[in-house]
Amino acid sequence: MNAKVLNGREHWASRLGFILAAAGSAIGLGNIWKFPYITGENGGGLFVLFYLLCVLLVGLPIMLAEFVIGRSTQSSPVAAFSELAGEQSAWKLVGWFGVISGFIILSYYSVVAGWSLNYLLMSIVDATAGKSPQEISGIFDKLYTSGSLNIFWHFLFMAITVGIVLSGVKEGIERWCRTLMPLLFLILAFLLVYGVFSPNSGFIKAAKFVFAPKIETFTSAGALEALGHAFFTLSLGMGAMLTYGSYLPKNEDVVKSAFIITFLDTMVALLACMVIFPILFGHGMEPQQGPGLVFKAMPIIFSNIPGGMILAILFFALLTFAALSSAISLQEVVSSNFMDRKGWTRKKATLITGTAIFIIGIPSALAGSGSLLAQWKDIFGKNFFDTMDYLAPNWLLPMGGFLMAVYVGWIMPRKKLEDEFKSGSKWAALYPLWLFSIKFIAPLAVLLVLLYKTGIINL
Ligand code: PFF
Repeated sequence: MNAKVLNGREHWASRLGFILAAAGSAIGLGNIWKFPYITGENGGGLFVLFYLLCVLLVGLPIMLAEFVIGRSTQSSPVAAFSELAGEQSAWKLVGWFGVISGFIILSYYSVVAGWSLNYLLMSIVDATAGKSPQEISGIFDKLYTSGSLNIFWHFLFMAITVGIVLSGVKEGIERWCRTLMPLLFLILAFLLVYGVFSPNSGFIKAAKFVFAPKIETFTSAGALEALGHAFFTLSLGMGAMLTYGSYLPKNEDVVKSAFIITFLDTMVALLACMVIFPILFGHGMEPQQGPGLVFKAMPIIFSNIPGGMILAILFFALLTFAALSSAISLQEVVSSNFMDRKGWTRKKATLITGTAIFIIGIPSALAGSGSLLAQWKDIFGKNFFDTMDYLAPNWLLPMGGFLMAVYVGWIMPRKKLEDEFKSGSKWAALYPLWLFSIKFIAPLAVLLVLLYKTGIINL
């Protein structure tokens, strides 16, 4: 593949570039910040096994569906559905749904990424030196409740994201992901090796916790959380993979790429657990610490081990890179929509929507300080940030994914579907299996979750 612009649309310069960009979208805060703490809360073992099943049986087929729609239409989500189903068709709403999800997710994702920037700077200036564990974990509470710090980091992170997306698919997204992703793999490998060989490593205990199935700790709520997380972690249900697929030429093997991206994403989630839990167990700490796990526990641990400052810098750089390559894809869904639908330039689309996302994120950035929308929590039971983080993975993404699976499995012309799946693929023989999963397994599994969540069925 050469760097090119086909039919006026920019394309990936190389297959590796595409795979790293799509893996960059998938691998993010979901893998390193969220997966370890929900694994901790759900007792590991069976939860992890169930999550792996969701990734394979639901996530992988839907990722392929997104690539197929994106590449066949060479368009971003709204334009794609209006091309396939007609300008007047209600299916276009699935595309809009994705764009709105992009706005919402990036608005609070950027706040968490901002915490990561904060901890990166703290590690570089060795801010935890000489502090007690209580003082160190108290730093997170200080940050969380400081409105001005949260706004500052949120602004900075959005500015970096917008800056990269402004440079375009090849020069911005692909180039950055080609640099960030290998770095991320390297840092992760280093931390893993450190965990295995460090003197008081809890590696065996951690491996048992993550991989040995224990029936006692597995609940139906955990099963549902695992499915929702499979969508979030693979960037599915809002058209991010659809948009990245739209920059692919016809000779690219989408089936093989989807397998590679899913594999990389899953490995990073599992490796993140195997980096965090051995250090945690080795220091006598428990994994059930909720969302503060990474930000509260890791700095305490790093401050206790020799050379911990370097490890802390590496760890928070890893978290920041991962967040950035995912944020880029969220911004790209929104930008490309306004470029394709309204004919805006990349610059105009990215600057206007990036600013809008920054503004929408302000209530999330101020959620901990309680100064804006103070009544929100009284009314909804969760602060603004938590409400967004609940809505997006639990509702928006599974609903979007469900509708895409239904469209591809039941409505899209069969011949077009088959041609698109097989085009350029050495794995074309998997088509019947994929068709079966996208028609039945994936939508039924998601439907089950949504019905359970609305209380219509009770497990
Ligand atoms: N997959 C990202 C993560 O695991 O952090 C989050 C994400 C990115 C979700 C892009 C959805 C999306 F479209």
